[in-house]
Amino acid sequence: MAPTFLVTGGAGFIGSNFVRHVLEHTDDQVVVLDKLTYAGDRRTLEGLPANRVRLVEGDIADAALVDGLVADLARDDGVLVHYAAESHNDNSLHDPSPFVQTNLIGTFTLLEAARRHGVRLHHISTDEVYGDLELDDPGRFTEATPYNPSSPYSSTKAGSDLLVRAWVRSFGVRATISNCSNNYGPWQHVEKFIPRQVTNLLDGVRPRVYGAGANVRDWIHADDHSSAVLRIIERGEIGETYLIGADGEKSNLEVVQALLSIMGRPEDDFDLVTDRAGHDLRYAIDSTKLRTELGWEPRSTSFADGLTRTVEWYREHEDWWRPHKDATERKYAEAGQ
Ligand code: NAD
Ligand code: TYD
Repeated sequence: MAPTFLVTGGAGFIGSNFVRHVLEHTDDQVVVLDKLTYAGDRRTLEGLPANRVRLVEGDIADAALVDGLVADLARDDGVLVHYAAESHNDNSLHDPSPFVQTNLIGTFTLLEAARRHGVRLHHISTDEVYGDLELDDPGRFTEATPYNPSSPYSSTKAGSDLLVRAWVRSFGVRATISNCSNNYGPWQHVEKFIPRQVTNLLDGVRPRVYGAGANVRDWIHADDHSSAVLRIIERGEIGETYLIGADGEKSNLEVVQALLSIMGRPEDDFDLVTDRAGHDLRYAIDSTKLRTELGWEPRSTSFADGLTRTVEWYREHEDWWRPHKDATERKYAEAGQ
């Protein structure tokens, strides 16, 4: 099968959404490279056409494996789309080591292969590289905001972005970077905020909100993240960074109360629990550059509708999330969360 895209981390939440997006909106073929860590699940790609999607189980830090896949990609003039990462802040506070290994060494390994074979790369990153904003700050993050990451997760993502920028400048690697805000939608691991609370509620357990619930995140549906990434790959300028966001700022309390309302529960039916160490207060994205220069717009502009569809999806896909739920909750219980 001749790949047009090599998607790292394509068996995870956002990477698998991108794979589906490519299948739906192009005629291209996809090879997924995924280590299938606790966060990856081959069942997420089940049912996709085998003549268009192939899963290779392996590590992005395995230089020999990566070299072979990127060499194949170069022959087809394909694009390397790099989603694979250790992605959860809470885990990074317990054990930073896999974050350094995958987010830094893994990205380095891919960059070296892209350099050797002259392959175009798009690097997926997060707005968390910019640190956090005050609740009453009228500003939002832009491409010019200085990096100021807080956690082992965000600092290793920041480091990976800087590696990409250096490989563009020093070695002429053809790369673009995007930094997106918090995603929600189907296939998200139950360790993350929204799926954790939805599946708690489905289990008759009260949602768990860190601290006072005042922290603000800027929510975007994963489908909109995927359409933005495809747009950047098609029309973005090499060496540029694009911020992706859908003007979706909400406090954690607002999100939980929206979920309680969708699920027909009283609005105070949740617990406040031990706060996250170093908890970033607020993220907010100004995506003007992406919208004006590349003509991108989000389609899912109603958070209430997107959340309702997401709740329905978890209700209907218990077989997918149930095997991950108990182990996840055990870890949170040990941390008093
Ligand atoms: P996820 O944890 O759901 O998926 C990560 C995937 O990467 C998993 O399938 C996992 O098995 C795979 N993986 C991990 N280490 C690997 C390795 N060494 N080699 C190969 N595969 C490996 O994460 P996600 O939420 O889908 O995030 C994907 C990307 O998007 C990450 O780069 C993340 O930083 C970025 N991002 C996430 C969000 C968000 O809200 N979740 C927002 C902005 C950016
Ligand atoms: P999370 O989904 O971990 O994403 P991120 O840390 O990348 O923003 O958390 C989103 C927000 O929800 C963050 O402010 C932490 C908070 N949170 C809770 O209040 N309770 C929870 O059980 C979890 C997992 C997160």
